[in-house]
Amino acid sequence: MPQGEAIRTMFSGIARRYDLTNRILSFGMEGYWRWRLVRLVKRRAPGDIADLATGSGVVAFRLKAALPAARVSGYDFCEPMLAVARGKQTGAPESEKIPFALGDCMALPIADASLDALTIAYGVRNFENRAKGLAELRRVLRPGGAAFVLEFTQPAAWMKPFYYLYLKTFLPLVAWLTTGDRKAYEYLAGSIADYPEKDTISAELRAAGFTRVRAIGLTGSIVAIHVAEIA
Ligand SMILES: C[S@@+](CC[C@H](N)C(=O)[O-])C[C@H]1O[C@@H](n2cnc3c(N)ncnc32)[C@H](O)[C@@H]1O
Repeated sequence: MPQGEAIRTMFSGIARRYDLTNRILSFGMEGYWRWRLVRLVKRRAPGDIADLATGSGVVAFRLKAALPAARVSGYDFCEPMLAVARGKQTGAPESEKIPFALGDCMALPIADASLDALTIAYGVRNFENRAKGLAELRRVLRPGGAAFVLEFTQPAAWMKPFYYLYLKTFLPLVAWLTTGDRKAYEYLAGSIADYPEKDTISAELRAAGFTRVRAIGLTGSIVAIHVAEIA
């Protein structure tokens, strides 16, 4: 698994171009995947929500728009990414601003059992210690709460040849053109290829103490949303 400090440094370097690069690399699909994520959260009408590994805050802003009465907060362990998120609120009334705070998913600055829902999009893959991180997600949720984990996964068999070609060629090239940091996106491609199947992540979520877990594959299972609940 990746080392936290190296991951933080890598995201610091690409923070300013992160949103644009994402849109290009996913051919706009990331908007749809995030929409599916937020729709699932909205159905539960949670009051207290945290978006973890929030990065530039894209999911946090969508949650606030979908659930205006909810208390939404965002956490990340990379200050330059948080600065991009905060910058998107410049000029907004203080009362409407989402609080974005430093927070490492290995030891979150969030009280036990204090959230109804949490989201984490493309964060779990970067955890230094996945078992520890998933246990942290479990710790901060109230009984009846749920974690919504959006992450790349292993695609359906028919998709694999095209997908791996894309990861090895198109992705590093575009990333180099937009961010100048080809290495960061070579890491991204490698981390996607090495990431476990949906069933493995489901088993790990159960081992972390979640009582009901289901996985929803999207777009030929390029990505999946795991919904992990606590009874
Ligand atoms: C690929 S970006 C995803 C950002 C955002 N969730 C999104 O959907 O665009 C991964 C983010 O996870 C953060 N991250 C990685 N490991 C983390 C950890 N242990 N604790 C907090 N944030 C972490 C990185 O700093 C980065 O901002």
